[in-house]
Amino acid sequence: MKRTLRLSMTSGLLAVAACLALHPEQSQARDAQTILKETCQGCHTPEGENALSRISHQRKTPEGWLMSIARMQTMHNLQISDEDRRTVVKYLADTQGLAPSETDGVRYALERRLNTVEQFDDQTKQMCGRCHSGARVALQRRPAQEWERLVNFHLGQWPSLEYQALARDRDWFDIARKDMVPLLAKRYPLDTQAWKDWQKNMPKAEAMVGQWSFSGHMPGKGELGGIMTVSANGTDQFKVAVDGQYADGSPFKGEGSAILYSGYEWRGNVTVDGVNMRQVFAAKGGELKGRMFDKAHDERGLDFVAAKQGTKQLLAVQPGYLKAGSEGEVTLIGSGLEGKPSFGKGVEVVEVLEQTPERLRVKLKAAADAAPGVRAVSVGALKGVNLAVYRDIAEVKVVPAFSVARIGEGGGSTPKVQGRFDAEAWGKGTDGKPYRIGVFPAQWKVEAFDERAKEDEDVKYAGTMQADSGVFTPGDAGPNPQRKMSTNNAGNLKVIAAVDDAGKSHTGEGQMIVTVQRWNNPPIP
Ligand code: HEC
Ligand code: HEC
Repeated sequence: MKRTLRLSMTSGLLAVAACLALHPEQSQARDAQTILKETCQGCHTPEGENALSRISHQRKTPEGWLMSIARMQTMHNLQISDEDRRTVVKYLADTQGLAPSETDGVRYALERRLNTVEQFDDQTKQMCGRCHSGARVALQRRPAQEWERLVNFHLGQWPSLEYQALARDRDWFDIARKDMVPLLAKRYPLDTQAWKDWQKNMPKAEAMVGQWSFSGHMPGKGELGGIMTVSANGTDQFKVAVDGQYADGSPFKGEGSAILYSGYEWRGNVTVDGVNMRQVFAAKGGELKGRMFDKAHDERGLDFVAAKQGTKQLLAVQPGYLKAGSEGEVTLIGSGLEGKPSFGKGVEVVEVLEQTPERLRVKLKAAADAAPGVRAVSVGALKGVNLAVYRDIAEVKVVPAFSVARIGEGGGSTPKVQGRFDAEAWGKGTDGKPYRIGVFPAQWKVEAFDERAKEDEDVKYAGTMQADSGVFTPGDAGPNPQRKMSTNNAGNLKVIAAVDDAGKSHTGEGQMIVTVQRWNNPPIP
């Protein structure tokens, strides 16, 4: 087969001079330009005003730019200081980033939700999603020529790619060039109206400064709420303090810093209880949304949503359910909470226990004959969250239904990756349709997934499930002389949650693969 592999850095067609000119006065931009000239221009050809081959014809997330430059360092021996790299990543993410709408649906990769089951067409899954996530692809924008060079780079950098398992079942290079390149250029083009509009209307970073009321949920620990205080600390940089509490009363307090990229990509580092946590949020009109996780153990994280003080938003109801015929306390979290709370038909507010603009704690009573189902909650004119009323639990789902945990430590440098689960109860509405009630406390255990796992005693070796929290800690890495052929502590397990509802037990089941370490762990999986 005849092939022309070009790791080319020849000039492209589309100059970015126009988009660079949008932020000409920023001093950081000038610094970045100097760095680009001094450290990149040696290999990347100048193309007119402030444009460089390859670099100027792509748009991506801050993590995407970081990965490209890190590759320049490890594979092409680029020399760059950490500080210069930070400046260049910031500048490129601001001037050649993605619009918020261009990251919709694939933010899970940035938020490091590594158990996400991706939704792509079969071709993309098989051609591009077997080595890394499809999201890594969907989080980039390029013209056809740049997608083609990316394909060439893959085969040039890893010439054995086509002979590896999961690639040799097809003519990978041919399909990539003929089918994937046009498809990618159409699906993820460099020039979009969304990015043009966003560049014009990008909010100022000052809009982030102030107090934010937040709500969160951490699997294995529960719901939390509190206030996050943000103060300016340089251009697009902030000091951050969080002061909150879990539903069980334990504190959630910490301090750190954050940077805003591309006008909305919030990246923070906040130390909570001695744990260095990373914040990956999208800022959108007075709302911050995303995930906050332990930097060293990204499986330990919480869903996070916050509303800026001064805006009017209802963010969450904690807990989001009540049993028909019972009384219970719920907390509404938001910003500008004013007026009377209402929880829909069959649910009565017995007493307002506490009301501030950020928090509204009430005692509720659901009538014994209240219809099972979901009700829209409102406070004054504010809406957007639901309360589920249930009579019986119809089904318990283990979330995530399919997950991967990893052995670690055992003398090695790679930490264990835990499994973390929620038990989600579902009910059946009067219309017969299933509805989500919410996350319930459960008793947890693991069992052998199949005959093979039973024979190999995976339950005994693969790790330990904490019965009351749904947190699974895998076994040590390395060969285990007690196992057949001294294999390691991998396993294939059923994850079983038992939820008790008024003396009746309901169980749900998921699957967890306990496997070997993830040796290569780049910012975008
Ligand atoms: C020593 C040479 C060298 C230097 C210096 C260098 N690059 Fe590269 N760059 C390459 C080569 C070779 C390729 C094509 C192969 C590849 O993608 O790895 C490339 C490709 C790229 C790409 C395209 C990657 C893709 O996914 O298509 C980007 C973006 C990039 N470089 C950014 C930079 C930036 C930013 C700098 C300066 C901070 C830089 N490079 C400095 C050699 C270099
Ligand atoms: C054989 C495994 C493999 C396959 C198949 C594969 N990739 Fe990659 N891809 C990689 C590796 C390895 C990297 C480099 C990761 C790094 O820089 O740390 C990468 C990097 C990338 C990047 C980031 C490049 C940058 O610097 O911005 C993109 C985008 C990408 N791949 C898209 C694709 C697309 C599109 C396909 C399908 C046509 C595909 N990949 C198929 C292994 C693969």
